Amino acid sequence: MMRLGVCYYPEQWPEAWWEDDARRMAAMGLTRVRIGEFAWSRIEPAPGRFEWGWLDRAIETLHRHGLGVILGTPTATPPKWLVDAMPDMVAVDAQGRPRRFGSRRHYCFSHAGYRAESRRITEAVAARYGRNPAVVAWQTDNEYGCHDTVVSHSAAAAQAFRAWLAARYGDIAALNDAWGTVFWSAEYRSFDEIDLPSLTVTEPNPAHSLDFQRFSSDQVLSFNREQVDILRAHSPGRDITHNAMGFVTSFDHHALGRDLDVVTWDSYPLGFLEQFWFSDAEKLRYARQGHPDIAAFHHDLYRGCGRGRFAVMEQQPGPVNWAARNPAPLPGMVRLWTLEAMAHGAEFVAYFRWRQAPFAQEQMHAGLLRPDRVDDIGAHEARAAAADIATLTAALPAELPTAQHDAEPHTTPRPAASASVALVFDYTSVWVTDIQPQGVGFSALRQAFEWYSALRALGLDIDIVPPDAALEGYRLVVVPCLPVLPGGFVDRLAACGALVLIGPRTGSKTPHFQIPPDLPPGDLQRAIPLKVTRVESLRPGVAAPPARDWLEHCETALTPAATLADGQGLLYRAGRLRYLAATLGSDALARLLAAVAGEAGLVTVDLPEGVRLRRHRGLRFAFNYAAEPRRLPADTAREFLLGAEGLPPAGVAAWREVE
Ligand code: GAL
Repeated sequence: MMRLGVCYYPEQWPEAWWEDDARRMAAMGLTRVRIGEFAWSRIEPAPGRFEWGWLDRAIETLHRHGLGVILGTPTATPPKWLVDAMPDMVAVDAQGRPRRFGSRRHYCFSHAGYRAESRRITEAVAARYGRNPAVVAWQTDNEYGCHDTVVSHSAAAAQAFRAWLAARYGDIAALNDAWGTVFWSAEYRSFDEIDLPSLTVTEPNPAHSLDFQRFSSDQVLSFNREQVDILRAHSPGRDITHNAMGFVTSFDHHALGRDLDVVTWDSYPLGFLEQFWFSDAEKLRYARQGHPDIAAFHHDLYRGCGRGRFAVMEQQPGPVNWAARNPAPLPGMVRLWTLEAMAHGAEFVAYFRWRQAPFAQEQMHAGLLRPDRVDDIGAHEARAAAADIATLTAALPAELPTAQHDAEPHTTPRPAASASVALVFDYTSVWVTDIQPQGVGFSALRQAFEWYSALRALGLDIDIVPPDAALEGYRLVVVPCLPVLPGGFVDRLAACGALVLIGPRTGSKTPHFQIPPDLPPGDLQRAIPLKVTRVESLRPGVAAPPARDWLEHCETALTPAATLADGQGLLYRAGRLRYLAATLGSDALARLLAAVAGEAGLVTVDLPEGVRLRRHRGLRFAFNYAAEPRRLPADTAREFLLGAEGLPPAGVAAWREVE
């Protein structure tokens, strides 16, 4: 059964309130509580002086009310005394400015002294609470990458980067060759000469930038692994997780997931709508609901990163404080978001946060409770969600116990496909298109999201998977944009038996950020005989419709399966593989994906605007993200467990699927 939980900061409230808080959490239907991730200054107020009493009592109080504790390691907030003792531990920005103390995440992943401190505090917390029966899981640190903190331009990072390059290339000639440093006389004579790719007059060499991103990602992974190893040693049988973010791609989350038991993520649909690339029309239409696919995209992405196991560690409960504009969710949305997570297989949803804090940086961020301790709207909706979850769970087949992943770096096979469509996504792709967009706004992440959204609007369920995932069992595999093809990928695509749709820029770079010798799409030419000889990025309106802002010119003997209005080839077909040579506007993309889904034998649904569906363990869910009432298409008879055909704004329906 999907659980509900909450993020709680006992150190921020009078101890006299804790008992009442815990009692009310339990009465609300919550059974999980995450604590501790920012509490270093209270756990260790001075070097080596630990004050465990308050945390012992907080954990004991929560446990007494039946709440399982998810304990965070407090390394996202190193205290003042530590920064003063080791001033060069802070991260340095691309302008070379050290970050100051006074907020959070002010550390550099490459600083050996801070690494040692991270291990020391993790060891201390894990040794004290590792076998405490109240502690059911651990969260490492908090949101790696939040506030743009994966990359640091510190002296420690520069030194570690040189060592990383030396290990990767062996000798400097190989690096010069891989990066093409003969260009602009940028040749290096030794690894010691290499700087970080910032403060250059114009753009740095893209291969240099890509390797720096790979290195920075690896630093996050090894930092995390150090904590995981300590936690595993002290706390057998507990899940270890980390809370990832929305639309953050600065480190390889698939790789992080291999070191964790469960991948969790922090869901703020309204803030994400406001902060990312959505059009003004979408920002208006979904201001209080969030775009219908934002949460779902991340559920499906992080379920893939967690090899089947994921949860929501922070769920927006009301207005946030950090976006350009911070509206209140439409009444019912907190419940809807919670049930959408369930429909994607989340193990729990924890709300952020229990009570709005009247002080400090996030005083304008809602909680389930108002600062005066009265229930806010989020609390009522959490209660409603708890009741719905109980109703739905009673209708589900008995659950198999969740197997803990083995503690070794995971070689466990992925769980069988949970959907009929696989969308292939990886982090290198986003790094490549971020470093070299070649046209404003081009991003592999945005491509992935747009394709995902178009497929979901057809009523399809989607698994977002890394390129090394097993693809057998899917009817349709889509690859929106994968510039660097990992070894073996083309063979696995060809062998998987699914219909495959490949998007532009796939196979357009070698791992060293060069154009493949036989031109894009590189190795894919073994499966579809075409060469991309020229690409253009264009203002919308320049290319013949339905191309949007990216157009590829292909040399091939194939007859195009679809053309632009001016006759230029748009879609090419070879066997079960299709190659799309342009980006498309949303209507054309929707039509293409509907046609391809039909060819793959998938049943699609003509859904009203804002309505989305999702299957989960024999149940089918419908969600209304529109601000107006909607009706489900009357294509089948449904025995509703929740809701009905007519969905009010923020309405949810669920029914048992009859074959
Ligand atoms: C998350 C973070 C929380 C809190 C929250 C506010 O990014 O993990 O600590 O800051 O955002 O929305």
